[in-house]
Amino acid sequence: MTFRYDDVLNPLRTAYDTDASSRDAGDKQPWKLAERQAFGDRLTTGARLLEIGAGTGHDSTYFQQRGTAVVATDLSADMVARCRAKGLDAHVMDFLNLNFPAGSFDAVYALNCLLHVPNRDFPTVLSRIAGVLRPGGLFFLGVYGGTENSEGPLTDDVLVPARFFSWRTDDRLQALATDAGFTIVDFHTVDVGSGHRFQSLTLRR
Ligand SMILES: C[S@@+](CC[C@H](N)C(=O)[O-])C[C@H]1O[C@@H](n2cnc3c(N)ncnc32)[C@H](O)[C@@H]1O
Repeated sequence: MTFRYDDVLNPLRTAYDTDASSRDAGDKQPWKLAERQAFGDRLTTGARLLEIGAGTGHDSTYFQQRGTAVVATDLSADMVARCRAKGLDAHVMDFLNLNFPAGSFDAVYALNCLLHVPNRDFPTVLSRIAGVLRPGGLFFLGVYGGTENSEGPLTDDVLVPARFFSWRTDDRLQALATDAGFTIVDFHTVDVGSGHRFQSLTLRR
């Protein structure tokens, strides 16, 4: 079965709208703090960063407090409202509709959100991200995956409706990134327990 971006979008929006409150209250695991710090260390003060799939804005707030000029975007209006309540410049925008001038960001940060994009549409999403990055700009792409290529709604999801996920092997993920014209600056994985494996990619346009 081939899954398409337009078909998974509304169920994802509904699921995350209902989950915004509990996500906002949750703490970030130490490995996530380390990932964002490492990416932040690569940026110069005053760099302009776009966070996509920003959720409730915890990471955007962190980058802003470091002196980065941040714009946060998310599919879910409830998530974006929580970003704005934190004083962030935040907008409801999905990955295929990033309404910004070409090359207007020095960096893009995407943590655990691009695993919601079907393979069929992933190259187009990557090209939209490349489009808003300046040449030489940095892109953090972090997702769960690693052992097989498979996609579909999560059978035992805690959210309703069940969210669509695409799991990719290390080789497949890196090939998708380089096929989209990015250069790999760093790739590593993190064993985060509970059978999950995190893939951390830092890319340069
Ligand atoms: C697992 S949460 C991660 C949130 C945040 N990045 C974090 O790590 O805490 C995934 C986020 O991606 C957003 N999202 C999913 N599909 C999206 C799409 N097509 N465009 C924009 N945001 C999307 C969801 O609304 C949700 O806030």
